[in-house]
Amino acid sequence: MSSENEIANLLHESRRFPPSAEFSKQAVAQPELYEKAKSDRLAFWAAQANNLHWHKPFTKTLDWSEAPFAKWFEDGELNVSYNCLDRHVESGAGDRVALFFEGEPGDTKAFTYKELLQEVKKAANVLANLGIQSGDRVAIYMPLIPEAIIAMHAVVRLGAVHSVVFGGFSADSLAARIQDAGAKLVITADGGFRKGKASALKPAVDSALSDEKCPSVEHVLVVKRCGNEIDWDDNRDLWWHEQLDSASSEHQSQGFNAEHPLFILYTSGTTGKPKGILHTTGGYLTQAAYTHKNVFDLHETKDVYWCTADIGWITGHSYVAYGPMANGATQVIYEGTPDTPDWGRWWSIIEKYKVSIFYTAPTAIRSFMKLGREMINKFDLSSLRLLGSVGEPINPEAWMWYREVIGSGTTPIVDTWWQTETGAIMISPLPGVTAAKPGSAMLPLPGVSMEVVDDEGNAVGNGHGGLLTITEPWPSMLRGIWGDPERFKETYWSRFPGRYFAGDGAKLDEDGDLWLLGRVDDVMNVSGHRLSTTEIESALVSHPYVAEAAVVGAKDETTGQAVVAFVILRASQVSQTGDEEKVSKELRDHVAKEIGPIAKPRTIFVVAELPKTRSGKIMRRLLRDVAEDRPVGDVTTLADTTVMDTISSRVASGASD
Ligand code: WT7
Repeated sequence: MSSENEIANLLHESRRFPPSAEFSKQAVAQPELYEKAKSDRLAFWAAQANNLHWHKPFTKTLDWSEAPFAKWFEDGELNVSYNCLDRHVESGAGDRVALFFEGEPGDTKAFTYKELLQEVKKAANVLANLGIQSGDRVAIYMPLIPEAIIAMHAVVRLGAVHSVVFGGFSADSLAARIQDAGAKLVITADGGFRKGKASALKPAVDSALSDEKCPSVEHVLVVKRCGNEIDWDDNRDLWWHEQLDSASSEHQSQGFNAEHPLFILYTSGTTGKPKGILHTTGGYLTQAAYTHKNVFDLHETKDVYWCTADIGWITGHSYVAYGPMANGATQVIYEGTPDTPDWGRWWSIIEKYKVSIFYTAPTAIRSFMKLGREMINKFDLSSLRLLGSVGEPINPEAWMWYREVIGSGTTPIVDTWWQTETGAIMISPLPGVTAAKPGSAMLPLPGVSMEVVDDEGNAVGNGHGGLLTITEPWPSMLRGIWGDPERFKETYWSRFPGRYFAGDGAKLDEDGDLWLLGRVDDVMNVSGHRLSTTEIESALVSHPYVAEAAVVGAKDETTGQAVVAFVILRASQVSQTGDEEKVSKELRDHVAKEIGPIAKPRTIFVVAELPKTRSGKIMRRLLRDVAEDRPVGDVTTLADTTVMDTISSRVASGASD
């Protein structure tokens, strides 16, 4: 969490951006939404759900009798793929572009809703022929190409459950996720283009499945994207294009129960083992569609929407694969990195497709801020009319820069707070209705009930800070952790009985607007991606050099937080390891191999001891002080109060990478 000083500075932010009359006049969101939701929350959500197509209408909105296991719209039946595709084709929007795909090498492809539906139907038939049935799990490990979205939709069309694993995760991380979910099928690609090169994916799948590590997997379906050399197992591997070419494009979708599992998405928690966050069908789609329409002010026949998130994260699920498509939006997806061939790539895409709604993360915004506006000014960004931010707190400077430089000083900005677990946006201004303040996510959306509380669970009231809790169930809430109901209760519902504890600190300003302050637990947020300190510590100690490790998230100008590790080396290994730079490199590479390059520590400090309490708990707070280069705080609860002096002096003498 930020220090008290910084919080105080934030709250002195006095700039206000009320909606312009012009924007409000055409806005999707209406001021009455707040009133309506307040007077009858369940009727409000039922009305949102009824914007979807139900194969069988629901009569019950919420059953909370087995809290914290919620059932929303439980006697209704629907099909997510039908809602995102068939419905638009049947209503006459089949020729509207659903996807503009921009490959990193510059290849492009557009799919209308009709075309996308055809592909999804073929893919659904392929999966059905491979024996995929309702409830089966399918792992998806792909670059951001149209086939990834087609694969997701084909899976859910059959009532099967996807587990998308980010392409940047290692073979070991992939294997762990396949095993935990018991996936029957893996859909992947030979590779994807990143930073001007083919970056292979199939070898990681081969390695994950080697030595019978994942016996549940029967087939691997491989999209040919880059044409790079890959190994092939005739008994297991199938080319996507060959299968689709011979598949029928007839496929009638069937309704599934609203509480039927839709997908699992793994995210880091406070322990070493990632949690499989489970979302179900009706409530998830209801809130993804409602928030996408109202928060992004979507006018589906006019707007071109672009969210830069990868499908490996929840943002790529709710605001690329499902929300926009449920609303019949036209959207852009881009395969590669923002710096290829140069840092103008994103802005050239906005100019080219006349993107009007743009959704990205503060870490990207800060990277562009550092580069200056010269590159950006070469492009015509006048099509933009709304900007969104997600993933971490956006500091007022970055917010202002985003509005001034990208949004020509006029576009509303929606700072959207939510989590993998919440499934959809929970806190955000409503453009055209709610005023915005740079750095504040403002208010819970209509239909969402939250409270900032103190350690005892009492509401803190305006002008005070505390812990963010959600006081009422919401439609797109997680339904559990795959295979571990106890961990679900323990993690989210035990700290404050009857409430969901988000793990974030927050402050209410004098007007009652919310300022998010970051995680209060052992979870780090690096470039908007969640990493667990424990998970990286386990990766470090799995290396023969390391006896003990402690990892903290330290403030970083670009990435929000950066991974900083403190390690104690094994005495038996030290003599052979040579200089610390080499050790540091070796350990960083090891973490990349174990978890993925995103988890690589920025800095590794070799130390002789770690600060522990008498019960043996590492005091990360003190290590964070060192990592962020400030005086070390209260050490009185340490078992050995001199440890921090030793660490500080060692770090100061340059024992780092
Ligand atoms: C954590 C959730 C939601 C999709 C991306 C991340 C942080 C997210 C904001 C925001 C301040 C934010 C929180 C949250 N976070 N959005 N607008 N302002 N913090 O999803 O990986 O599940 O991480 O991201 O700390 O708990 P996630």
